[in-house]
Amino acid sequence: MHLEGFLVALFLMSFISLSNAKMSNKIGIAYGRLGNNLPSPEASIELIKSINASRVKLYDANPEILQLLSGTKIQVSIMIPNDEISPISANQDYADQWVQHNIIPYYPKTMIRFLLVGNEILSFMTDKDRQTWFDLVPAMKNIRRSLKKYDLLKIKIGTPLAMDAIESSFPPSSGTFRADITVPVMKPLLQFLNRTKSFFFLDVYPYFPWSENPGDISLDYALLSSSNFTYTDPVSGLTYTSLLDQMLDSVVFAMTRLGFRNIRLYIAETGWPSAGDIDQIGANIYNAATYNRNLVERIIGRPTVGTPARPTWGIPTFIFSLVPTSAKASNETLLNDCCGLCRAPIYNSKILPSYVTMTTLVFICFL
Ligand SMILES: *[C@@H]1O[C@H](CO)[C@@H](O)[C@H](O)[C@H]1NC(C)=O
Ligand SMILES: *[C@@H]1O[C@H](CO)[C@@H](O)[C@H](O)[C@H]1NC(C)=O
Ligand SMILES: *[C@@H]1O[C@H](CO)[C@@H](O)[C@H](O)[C@H]1NC(C)=O
Ligand SMILES: *[C@@H]1O[C@H](CO)[C@@H](O)[C@H](O)[C@H]1NC(C)=O
Repeated sequence: MHLEGFLVALFLMSFISLSNAKMSNKIGIAYGRLGNNLPSPEASIELIKSINASRVKLYDANPEILQLLSGTKIQVSIMIPNDEISPISANQDYADQWVQHNIIPYYPKTMIRFLLVGNEILSFMTDKDRQTWFDLVPAMKNIRRSLKKYDLLKIKIGTPLAMDAIESSFPPSSGTFRADITVPVMKPLLQFLNRTKSFFFLDVYPYFPWSENPGDISLDYALLSSSNFTYTDPVSGLTYTSLLDQMLDSVVFAMTRLGFRNIRLYIAETGWPSAGDIDQIGANIYNAATYNRNLVERIIGRPTVGTPARPTWGIPTFIFSLVPTSAKASNETLLNDCCGLCRAPIYNSKILPSYVTMTTLVFICFL
């Protein structure tokens, strides 16, 4: 307990030194709760409040956390678990009950703004998973009917997808959705998002394409740090200064190719692994700190920065993650996938070189 208070205080100091305090209200935090030694919900919510994050994404409709967020100004996105998609799509009563049970007791005192139906479901490939793909949009429609029934249509509906929904992403202008999902899933999904004026939620990690081609892609370009490297798309003529923008625009072009020009993007997750297995090149605390710091500067920057294809369209962003999300850690010194309130040793560690300042350290550990 003492330690947590101490760390929160350190974090506050660091955060203020990093940026104009008033601006941090643009930051969204993904609050994953899988893992060991997680801080209590109370401590986590205090942390979110203390960094003035304005939005939080929950991976389930946890009653205790929803209650704790009641009366705060934090906008909340709630995820409906993947295994609820098929039952919800099959049965309107079931959808109604889901909303009655998980939304109505908390709304509007808890400022629920988005219901995210499933998580990256188009990335799961078994026969059973594929069945769920086709239930996705029907489930979203049933949830919307339920929200309408209870006069809750201020809550919008989306579904976070991973970059593997895109078959071709380079150059960005060639952006195309995967052939197996384009007609049966993406078209109806985009129709739904467009009609309901919702967002395309995307989990986007420049780390992965970079780590597959570290020889071809400059690390700075992947870390949002590049000042002297640009890439010009030969077809669109647009000039890119980061891998993140390239990835985002490939989705913009894929949507445009299907006739949808106006659906806004929402980054449902982004980040950089702060540690990994020995063979995971570039997954380290310095790169994670750099990526997160550049990302936050971009989010809080003015004027709003979009992507080359949509320069003035700001993209709301959830940074992954408040707390570590897996217990994969096999080697403590690698701090696998972890930082944060739960692992005090990192703060005492002598392994950190001096250029990792408390600000960067605390950033990766909390964001
Ligand atoms: C949070 O916002 C309050 C009120 O605007 C401000 O006083 C405080 O310094 C902010 N804290 C941080 C960490 O940005
Ligand atoms: C870009 O800048 C970095 C460091 O500032 C330098 O190492 C690199 O050689 C530069 N690349 C080009 C193409 O100028
Ligand atoms: C998207 O929605 C807009 C406004 O509601 C509408 O005018 C447009 O036709 C829709 N686009 C598609 C491709 O359905
Ligand atoms: C953990 O990783 C470090 C650095 O690679 C290595 O020196 C150490 O032996 C590893 N420890 C264990 C217990 O595997």
